[in-house]
Amino acid sequence: MRLTRYFLPVLKENPAEAQIVSHRYMLRAGMIKQQAAGIYSWLPLGLRVLRRIETIVNEEQERAGHIPLLMPTLQPADLWRESGRYDDYGQEMLRITDRQKRELLYGPTNEEMVTDIFRSHVNSYKDLPLTLYHIQWKFRDEMRPRFGVMRGREFLMKDGYNFDIDKEAALHAYNRHMVSYLRTYERMGLTAIPMRAASGPIGGDNTHEFLVLAQTGESEVFYDDRVTALKLGAREIDYDDRAAVADVCREFTTLYARTDETHDGAVFEAVPEAHRKVGRGIEVGQIFYFGTKYSEAMGALVVNDKGERVPVEMGSHGIGVSRLLGAIIEASHDDKGIIWPEGVTPFPVGIVNLKQGDAAADAACEGLYKALAAKGLEALYDDRDERAGAKFATMDLIGLPWRITVGPRGLANGVVEVTSRRTGESVEMTPDAAVARIAEIYAGV
Ligand SMILES: Nc1ncnc2c1ncn2[C@@H]1O[C@H](COP(=O)(O)OP(=O)(O)OP(=O)(O)O)[C@@H](O)[C@H]1O
Ligand SMILES: [Mg+2]
Repeated sequence: MRLTRYFLPVLKENPAEAQIVSHRYMLRAGMIKQQAAGIYSWLPLGLRVLRRIETIVNEEQERAGHIPLLMPTLQPADLWRESGRYDDYGQEMLRITDRQKRELLYGPTNEEMVTDIFRSHVNSYKDLPLTLYHIQWKFRDEMRPRFGVMRGREFLMKDGYNFDIDKEAALHAYNRHMVSYLRTYERMGLTAIPMRAASGPIGGDNTHEFLVLAQTGESEVFYDDRVTALKLGAREIDYDDRAAVADVCREFTTLYARTDETHDGAVFEAVPEAHRKVGRGIEVGQIFYFGTKYSEAMGALVVNDKGERVPVEMGSHGIGVSRLLGAIIEASHDDKGIIWPEGVTPFPVGIVNLKQGDAAADAACEGLYKALAAKGLEALYDDRDERAGAKFATMDLIGLPWRITVGPRGLANGVVEVTSRRTGESVEMTPDAAVARIAEIYAGV
């Protein structure tokens, strides 16, 4: 992408309405525009990151054996009357009446609808296990939408639902979700800690929230800080191996880590004082096992191997896809702007031409741009006729992890400069070596 042909409406001034750094930088970097309280347009740069996050979520869900589908945003009120939640949900639910006076709602979550799909098509234990998920917009008429995409009213969520014949199988699905979520967040450059949580309106007693530590987080968290060093890394996981998956979950949930809702001072006291930490966190996902709550209420029954009709065992599992942009920025920025982890960056690398119009510099930039594209890497090429300082400021603000700087002086010696956004370190090398270096970095992403 050439910047002169792109749509990147960066702001020079700090927007007054933004209280936290991620909201400020998303507005300044031209990623989002607010259209109403808690409702945003995703401008091209923001959309690119959103799509990267969706891709990672999809890849890890499919790796775990979960199956994508797509349910609508609008749902009939009657489905929610079956579960009893139509009245329980209260003012957070956006209720709509169509021209036939039929009652609809903009879905805040999809337990009822997916249970309806299931009961229409599945009758036998032989079709289980089954986990269906989608990435779809949700609406919750939050009392205080704030912090940009962190607490929106319309927001993008991945929500998945498992259907299993017995509790054991359903808890395996729960564990599979935990492990796939850990991998998902790691690929985004995040440390998200699974913490024991309270279940709220979804119901059930087996639930964990995933929290990214950040001063600006809305949840108070209590944890043994050794939990932050745990990493899945590149290990292979066989998602069908119940014991192996359970072992990973045990590894990540044994050390003390709880939100204020489940915090137990007496148990926390047992953590060695040097490791006892109280802080704040951003909830980027939650998993629930809730058994037969919805299947009983809605008549989602399956025949088991003894020929009996039993309500199917279920759980639901969510990732805050749009909130993740905010969480990643809160966890990865400096005073010049965003620092995208390679896994989610909108462009893998930026090219800065220090002297637009200089024949050698222009040709070298074009050459880099094409050589990167040939390796599947779409660079953002700043080909504007602007001062170097302004170009650097834009690149720093939008946070591409790598920058190649091209100028007549370096080219006279046959070199360009490769700079890490994170460390600020620059290394001179030939244009060919620069392309090889960037390709090598992204080979493992
Ligand atoms: N208003 C919102 N804006 C953006 N993301 C949200 C919002 N509400 C929930 N999410 C995201 O969707 C995920 C799954 O939804 P869930 O039902 O667990 O939310 P929740 O527990 O009600 O969230 P919160 O406690 O933050 O209100 C959450 O973990 C969070 O990352
Ligand atoms: Mg939650």
